[in-house]
Amino acid sequence: MFVSDCLGINSEGHLTIGNYDTISLVEKYGTPMYVMDEHTIRKNCKAYKEAFEKYYNNNGMALYASKALSCLEICRIINSESLGLDVVSEGELYTALCVGFPAKNIHFHGNNKTYRELKIAVENNIGRIVIDNICELDLLNDICSKMNKTCDVAIRVKPGVNAHTHEYIRTGQIDSKFGFALETGEAFNAVEKVISLDNIHLKELHCHIGSQIFDIKPYIVTIDIMMEFIRAIKCKTGFLVKELNLGGGFGIKYINDDIPISIDEFMKKILLYVDKKSKQYNIEAPYLYVEPGRSIVGEAGITLYRVGCVKNIPNIRRYVSVDGGMCDNPRYSLYKSKYSVVVANNACSKAEQIVTIAGKCCESGDLIQEDVLIQEVKQGDIIAVLSTGAYNYSMSSNYNKIPRAPIIMINDMKSKVIVKREEIKDLIKNEI
Ligand code: LLP
Repeated sequence: MFVSDCLGINSEGHLTIGNYDTISLVEKYGTPMYVMDEHTIRKNCKAYKEAFEKYYNNNGMALYASKALSCLEICRIINSESLGLDVVSEGELYTALCVGFPAKNIHFHGNNKTYRELKIAVENNIGRIVIDNICELDLLNDICSKMNKTCDVAIRVKPGVNAHTHEYIRTGQIDSKFGFALETGEAFNAVEKVISLDNIHLKELHCHIGSQIFDIKPYIVTIDIMMEFIRAIKCKTGFLVKELNLGGGFGIKYINDDIPISIDEFMKKILLYVDKKSKQYNIEAPYLYVEPGRSIVGEAGITLYRVGCVKNIPNIRRYVSVDGGMCDNPRYSLYKSKYSVVVANNACSKAEQIVTIAGKCCESGDLIQEDVLIQEVKQGDIIAVLSTGAYNYSMSSNYNKIPRAPIIMINDMKSKVIVKREEIKDLIKNEI
């Protein structure tokens, strides 16, 4: 009935997450609030891990893309499920290292890593630095030489695959700020250069074709391109790249029209296809990485808000204003992303009203969802926005000097705060 398996309705007609009554959560922690279901996060991690075991001789690893949601407890969970981690900044790396995340299982991404970030990555022996461009390669070489250290790298390739998704979140096409192009020979030149360097060891080729993708086809095309590139490198240089990273991007369910393929099915198709291509090219099957972010945490999370004023503009629209907005979820303002919404204190009644959920920021575009079907809703009600576990907290801001909402984790019918609500005084802590 709901977009995520962890949601339900109890005998009082209240929405539940991990069987926990959302209204009692509101009484305990206040609104707005993000709530996550630990069981769902762990179940998704296990699905990736088991797919590698079942279909690929365990010759690979899923790296959780922590940009989807980075905090200490999530890093602990990911590590305890034996997944690796993709980080894109010193901040995400620091968060991971603070919980003792094994450095060897961390990949460092980004199209403009700073000198300081690269230096920290080398100092901490991060598993792979994913080289995005030649400037970065030169910088890294310089750092390694000065420190008299070596480091293992991946090269990020633009496979040029145009995955069907929102244009803001496509990263695989030629006109992209990420990675080296194949067509122009740029990627091959980068490979040759890395092979020639003493301190930098080429371990892996990386690509990422976009986000919230439902179709397996663009991945199959990408595998063709990347495996052909591995073969071409071997023919021209004699060097066999032994690891391949296919990035993330697997879609999740935000609304009922979204029909994602299960993690198991997606992984099965990808892994068996890589295996088939390896046999066809007569090369050793590469150690394979995928980098799921959204598909691990997205459906595990919801956001709870309290309704303030309801403004009816006859024959135009009904605005239902909540006590959060683009500061905790900027995805509708940025991408017009669709979400399902539910009146959490009246979840069992029929959704018969079309309303627009507005935030409290001083900006007309501050909407959570336009023209959405919902139950009868009035001031004081609690609204739940579903599938907000990914790219909500991590993209939140203090716009209008609104403190960030807390994250509450549900596990085994217990709730705990994993990120505290920001306090008003926190908002001026860096001000002089
Ligand atoms: N690997 C790389 C190199 C990436 O750039 C990304 C996402 C991922 C993995 C994880 O992709 P996922 O499995 O989460 O789709 N803010 C946007 C999403 C931006 C994604 C950027 N890169 C949104 O809210 O939809």
